[in-house]
Amino acid sequence: MALYEKPSMDKLIEDLKILKEKVYKGGGEEKINFQHGKGKLTARERLNQLFDEGKFNEILTFATTRATEFGLDKNRFYGDGVIAGWGKIDGRQVFAYAQDFTILGGSLGETHANKIVRAYELALKVGAPVIGINDSGGARIQEGALSLEGYGAVFKMNVMASGVIPQITIMAGPAAGGAVYSPALTDFLIMIKGDAYYMFVTGPEITKVSIGEEVSYQDLGGAIIHATKSGVVHFVAENEQDAINITKRLLSYLPSNNMEEPPYVDTGDPADRAVQSAESIVPTDSVKPFDIRDLIYNIVDNSEFLEVHKLWAQNITVGFGRINGNVVGIVANNSAYYGGAIDIDAADKAARFIRFCDAFNIPVISLVDTPGYVPGTDQEYKGIIRHGAKMLYAFAEATVPKITVIVRRSYGGAHIAMSIKSLGADLVYAWPSAEIAVTGPEGAVRILYRREIQSAQNPEELLKQKITEYKKLFANPYWAAEKGLIDDVIEPKDTRNVIARGLEMLRNKREFRYPKKHGNIPL
Ligand code: HXC
Repeated sequence: MALYEKPSMDKLIEDLKILKEKVYKGGGEEKINFQHGKGKLTARERLNQLFDEGKFNEILTFATTRATEFGLDKNRFYGDGVIAGWGKIDGRQVFAYAQDFTILGGSLGETHANKIVRAYELALKVGAPVIGINDSGGARIQEGALSLEGYGAVFKMNVMASGVIPQITIMAGPAAGGAVYSPALTDFLIMIKGDAYYMFVTGPEITKVSIGEEVSYQDLGGAIIHATKSGVVHFVAENEQDAINITKRLLSYLPSNNMEEPPYVDTGDPADRAVQSAESIVPTDSVKPFDIRDLIYNIVDNSEFLEVHKLWAQNITVGFGRINGNVVGIVANNSAYYGGAIDIDAADKAARFIRFCDAFNIPVISLVDTPGYVPGTDQEYKGIIRHGAKMLYAFAEATVPKITVIVRRSYGGAHIAMSIKSLGADLVYAWPSAEIAVTGPEGAVRILYRREIQSAQNPEELLKQKITEYKKLFANPYWAAEKGLIDDVIEPKDTRNVIARGLEMLRNKREFRYPKKHGNIPL
């Protein structure tokens, strides 16, 4: 019997190159063409666009399924339908995985899940963000309960990593059933527009059979629906490249982990720059709506503001910017939508954003102009009490620097929910146009003087007179300032400078909480 003779190194390397070539071809030419035919890039092409050139390092490259059922033993692919690893994005270390739809529809089985989990484990050890590019038919049917177990393991990693490293998902294909929940557990979801991209718990076919409702894939779970109605999606990308660009822009505001400060950038915009346009942007007439973003763009460095959840709950605006080079999270009422009143979606949106900022050492700036919480049965039945409480909880819980600027109306529970001194705000400023009270003038007067108005000879006149008196007392910042609730009343043009100085003073802020397992935010 001839002894096994190990081939030469040259031959071994040649064999390795052939195998690697096979790995890089994913599910093969035909499937790649099919993928391209849908307007989608392959997993490898996506990673190439995401990472700095030549800087991606793959892990578990050759790992494949152990399953044999339904012919899987004859249908194995290296990599098992997901590429995982780490690399540099704009010079910073980041982990990523990209599901490869050309291999078994990017479906998730035991090995596939294990690769994602391993990437997360490494990312957690070294404190680096994880980006998931999802493009998958969901749980791999042939691997039965092992696929479901795999999802469980991924979800657990999402939760373990929450608040430790930033997690971003790019929705770059379908996601059905439980597969939607990993994206939902991450911090930010970027979804691409177009027919090839959708996510839902129950698809159109089963929806029709079970409740008789007919709906298209896009109307049920397209990017626009999730960005405007469900609030599942934070950013809509015009196309694949746009999704990568948004991801990079978002990363530029985030620290790599919860032990780091967010990245400082010398923006060249002077901290004491006067916001000359501030006065003309905000009408003193409190019923006149305006778009708070016009003010935000003028306050932040070089007008660069990355708005989060831009198309959902537009009555509150949240997003990232820089002041004097330092990253801030901004939470601002927007009177251009529902008069800036807070409803359940706005409360959810703000609370989640504030909690993200707090977890990752990003100071929060509140710009206040709200008449209160939205009244009516619709909101009460949906639980404005429960949802509104989330904002209070998020601000009170946050230990990052918190600065509030009241630019116009600040009424009732919403006044508190936008962060005031007793809730833990470090600094509270008001413009001369601020109005601070328990409730708006007409409502207040009707409650305080109900009997007098009813029995008055001219009720309308008395109402008007009392409203004027109430406005005189409360439609200004000075009553509250005299009581020590406002640190200073400032000229609108000084807003940026005042915030910059406050942030500088608060840089080394330390605030401690009672030890506990975790709080119980009203969900
Ligand atoms: C195994 C799958 C698969 C899956 C797709 N494929 N989904 N293989 N398990 N879940 C395979 C197909 O058999 C096909 O293989 C290849 O991937 C491409 O799929 P197509 O159907 O040809 O692609 P397309 O027409 O683009 O349709 C995409 C799709 C459809 C809409 C996603 O594939 C689909 O409906 N898949 C099943 C979705 C599903 O019900 N998943 C389970 C959800 S529940 P060949 O060899 O023909 O190329 C779930 C539970 C998670 O995920 C629980 C977590 C708690």
